[in-house]
Amino acid sequence: ALVTTTEMFKKAYEGGYAIGAFNVNNMEIIQGITEAAGELKSPVILQVSKGARAYANHTYLVKLVEAALEVNDIPMALHLDHGPDFETCKSCIDGGFSSVMIDGSHHDFKTNIELTKKVVDYAHSKGVVVEGELGQLAGVEDDVNVSAEDASYTNPDQVEEFVDKTGVDSLAIAIGTSHGAFKFKPGQKPQLRFDILEEIEKRLPQYPIVLHGASSVSQEYVRIIKENGGKMEDAIGIPEDMLRQAAKSSVCKINIDSDLRLAFTAGVRQALVADPTAFDPRAYLKVARTNIKELVAHKITNVLGSNNVL
Ligand code: G3H
Ligand code: 13P
Ligand code: ZN
Repeated sequence: ALVTTTEMFKKAYEGGYAIGAFNVNNMEIIQGITEAAGELKSPVILQVSKGARAYANHTYLVKLVEAALEVNDIPMALHLDHGPDFETCKSCIDGGFSSVMIDGSHHDFKTNIELTKKVVDYAHSKGVVVEGELGQLAGVEDDVNVSAEDASYTNPDQVEEFVDKTGVDSLAIAIGTSHGAFKFKPGQKPQLRFDILEEIEKRLPQYPIVLHGASSVSQEYVRIIKENGGKMEDAIGIPEDMLRQAAKSSVCKINIDSDLRLAFTAGVRQALVADPTAFDPRAYLKVARTNIKELVAHKITNVLGSNNVL
């Protein structure tokens, strides 16, 4: 059965590793992720955005995850990524998810607290856990577009009050990551504000922190995409050693979507260019699915450190 993230985060905190939260949109992505996690004996979080629900349909995604649970005997959480409002969160809570995020980070502090608390009260009454967010990431966050200059780091002086007043189970913070495949300008040195993270840890001891926008943008996949007809200039991500450092700290959940998209797209492009006569979708989706599996295995083993913990 699906589990919440409570036990996962407790063990991850104590064990100095993090749980990967991977965005899912279709069967091949779910299969690739869960096969890798299953073989490596790693818990995993499968997360679904508003856009994923619009694309694949809520029920299809829930049933695909249920199928993955029957095939792979590992703890899995099904999580709403960037829940935009109470209604979307309620729909996922009522519709079989074990965890939801309410993203009130673009609201003022007081409104964020009120909205998050409303979701927490409902979710907890149904045994579902909630992730909140304080601070704003640069880049595209679902419908909201925050430019790099507007990005504001999480204020450590606000985190205690936010968690106390909302009762939220985990907190997403902004320390320099951003969504998408273009996180830094060329020549700009990738940097994360570990000093802010430390301040947050002091205010919230033993409390699980979430890192969004944590793709590393493998230059290998970028190269394959470019070599096979794609356009992808200056795609830059978060260096893996920084994520490894974060995983050892209070960061218990690391969100990865763009890296999956790159792996999938590289596979499809490579397969179609290699055989221009191919028109059986299974031929190229198989390559994409294998890339997803390899990528997730790499993340679990070399970045998250969540392998062999079951
Ligand atoms: O943070 C956004 C995630 O990468 C999901 O993206 O809203 O396009 O599904 P999406
Ligand atoms: P990336 O775009 O870096 O993969 O971030 C994904 C994310 O934060 C989903 O919520
Ligand atoms: Zn995110």
